[in-house]
Amino acid sequence: MSKKPIYVLNGPNLNLLGKREPEIYGHATLDDARERTQARAKLYGLEIEFRQSNTEGEIVGWIQEAHAKACALVINAGAYTHTSVAILDAVLAADIPCVEVHLSNIFCREEFRRHSYISAASVGVICGFGVKSYELAIEALAERLNAVEK
Ligand code: DQA
Repeated sequence: MSKKPIYVLNGPNLNLLGKREPEIYGHATLDDARERTQARAKLYGLEIEFRQSNTEGEIVGWIQEAHAKACALVINAGAYTHTSVAILDAVLAADIPCVEVHLSNIFCREEFRRHSYISAASVGVICGFGVKSYELAIEALAERLNAVEK
């Protein structure tokens, strides 16, 4: 099994989780998401590197870094999901498995949220389960990476 971590990258406004539109995104904070994702990864003996940025270029830089330093990606690109060809290209170039996650079910919201650039470069998409979406992404990757439950 790889000793490299899974990079869990979060895009704009996700630092506001817990305060931001709680009726859509829930009451859990980004720290809660980090802790729950970490706990789930630990069950499989996996490490995570959990980050958030409000800047597209910084996220692109982290994805480029992931190519050498990570075994897989979990990405919630926030609003960049629906706009960023740069993030799509970075994920394609990273050439490691990527799972796209969203807290909300983007398919039952506004029309513009139904299209994701990231999906084209992802092995799967998990959305609609709040912070649990991150845990499910780790579970899916653990199986793919042949990580064994501890
Ligand atoms: C989101 C959905 C996006 O449409 C939105 O712009 C976000 C959060 C989600 O996790 O549900 O910022 O990615």
